Amino acid sequence: MDKLNQQYKEAAAYIASRIKGKPSIAIILGSGLGSLAEQIEDATVIPYDEIPHFQQSTVPGHRGNLISGRLNSVEVLAMQGRFHYYEGYTMQQVTFPVRVMKLLGIEYLFVSNAAGGINTSFKVGDLMIIRDHINMMPNPLIGPNNDSFGVRFPDMTRTYDRQLMAWMEEIAQEESIPLKKGVYVGLTGPSFETPAEYAFYGKAGGDAIGMSTVPEVIVARHAGMRVFGMSVITNEGYHFTDDFVNDGADVIEAANKAAGQMTLLFKKLLKEMLSFLS
Ligand code: HPA
Repeated sequence: MDKLNQQYKEAAAYIASRIKGKPSIAIILGSGLGSLAEQIEDATVIPYDEIPHFQQSTVPGHRGNLISGRLNSVEVLAMQGRFHYYEGYTMQQVTFPVRVMKLLGIEYLFVSNAAGGINTSFKVGDLMIIRDHINMMPNPLIGPNNDSFGVRFPDMTRTYDRQLMAWMEEIAQEESIPLKKGVYVGLTGPSFETPAEYAFYGKAGGDAIGMSTVPEVIVARHAGMRVFGMSVITNEGYHFTDDFVNDGADVIEAANKAAGQMTLLFKKLLKEMLSFLS
């Protein structure tokens, strides 16, 4: 634990030495959603391989940069690409950046991902506010508790921040952008689900299904960060024609198409928070 805490500190110290501001909001950009980072002004781009103890992103559609700067006048720290459990990283490695963020003073974490729709009213291109999750991956907090970040048994009753969700719903209405709201099911992947599995998780209360996000959110909540999450629905896991094939490239393409709308919504949410933060 001491060694790991030292590594968090070394990564945080390095990042702090490279960036200009002191952001309190971080954004993790999921598959195909990295284009938000291009709108960050006065940006400092730090490739992950320059940050002590950071892993490398090995997945198509994930670029592997930490970017700091201003988005809609708000200081942010964005991860363009994340680490997934299915890449072979340990849960400690997957969630390493979240603890580094905590040491950097991040109080709010926005997470985004590409997800398969299992709610039969969801269509490709829909955006979904994550209102709750079902974790089907190993819990990243397994092992001795790291007391310097949080308690042994962290509460997960209000994992996704109600105020941030309410603001986002208002913003979407003002912008006439239809938003879904639902439960994200986090699985390890990397195989896509069978039709029976999509149906199973739908019956279990899920609305969208994916291979990320939940580990980072659990570690963020353990450390007391406030979390907002959004999924982009990139495929429909509830009807399968005879020739249908799930394809990772289609997922990225669908996410790319929706990235502009998600970016717009995130920027508006930041503006809403500006008065609150200052
Ligand atoms: N399943 C799991 N992960 C995903 C999916 C899916 O259907 N779509 C995008 N990420």
